[in-house]
Amino acid sequence: MLKINDLNVSIDSSSILNGINLEISKGDIVALLGPNGHGKSTLFHSIMGNPRYVVNKGNIIFNGEDITKMDVSTRSKKGLFLAFQNPPEISGVMTLDFFKNSLNSHLDKPIKLLDFYKKTTQAYEDVGLDSSFIERNLNEGFSGGEKKRNEIIQLQLLSPTLAMLDEIDSGLDVDALSSIAKVINNMHEKGTTFILISHYDKLFSLINPNKTFVIINGKVALSGDGLLAKRISKEGYSFIEKEFKIKIEKKEKQVSIGSCGVKQVI
Ligand SMILES: Nc1ncnc2c1ncn2[C@@H]1O[C@H](COP(=O)(O)OP(=O)(O)OP(=O)(O)O)[C@@H](O)[C@H]1O
Ligand SMILES: [Mg+2]
Repeated sequence: MLKINDLNVSIDSSSILNGINLEISKGDIVALLGPNGHGKSTLFHSIMGNPRYVVNKGNIIFNGEDITKMDVSTRSKKGLFLAFQNPPEISGVMTLDFFKNSLNSHLDKPIKLLDFYKKTTQAYEDVGLDSSFIERNLNEGFSGGEKKRNEIIQLQLLSPTLAMLDEIDSGLDVDALSSIAKVINNMHEKGTTFILISHYDKLFSLINPNKTFVIINGKVALSGDGLLAKRISKEGYSFIEKEFKIKIEKKEKQVSIGSCGVKQVI
């Protein structure tokens, strides 16, 4: 379903991904792991087509089609979805309008109001969020957990074929986490493929990954089945350095700030 070949990506001319190769099949639940700052979210943004992330080399094949140069909305209509690690707050855009317009842009003809009402009411109930949130501006003033629940409502409405969820469990209380895991497992049963980034074992005890990729230094350093994710949860990343001789290093970027402002004033 998804094949990534030698993907090299930079942001604001800083090189972040240095030759990512991976393959995901329909029906997989993939755990995408790796230490902080090694490129996991960058990979998601690159797959989704965020224009800030520049692909310098390599390609992304989705369902046999090269999507590397396609814009975000085209990729979304082809069935890709990204739930953000940090969902942005959009002032002046009511959640209801956002949901209705994004849903309609994926349909041949606009959804009937009653169907939209039924769909959203169910989705709010599934994630345990009061449906009055639909009248608030998108994510504005939402708590961390409320933003994450809102991402899952979008996921349910758009019903993608490949969903990438970036730290969907961060900020969620225990009850919300199990509700959301239930939604993900239900959607998976109905055919959605998932890639999940998480730093916590709890998510992977509720949703069983069958594949694991570990991103280190902007590359897939290690891959395996679901047991690899469980081992990392238990032992951390240090065994990768010892057993596989992969050095986990963060290159310090040389940043020039020019001449020191304070010095100049003095
Ligand atoms: N605009 C930018 N300019 C320079 N470096 C950037 C920019 N945006 C992101 N980065 C760097 O890219 C690296 C990868 O970031 P990314 O968000 O992909 O990490 P991550 O693996 O998702 O980490 P985490 O687990 O903390 O979410 C980080 O070192 C980050 O600081
Ligand atoms: Mg991240």
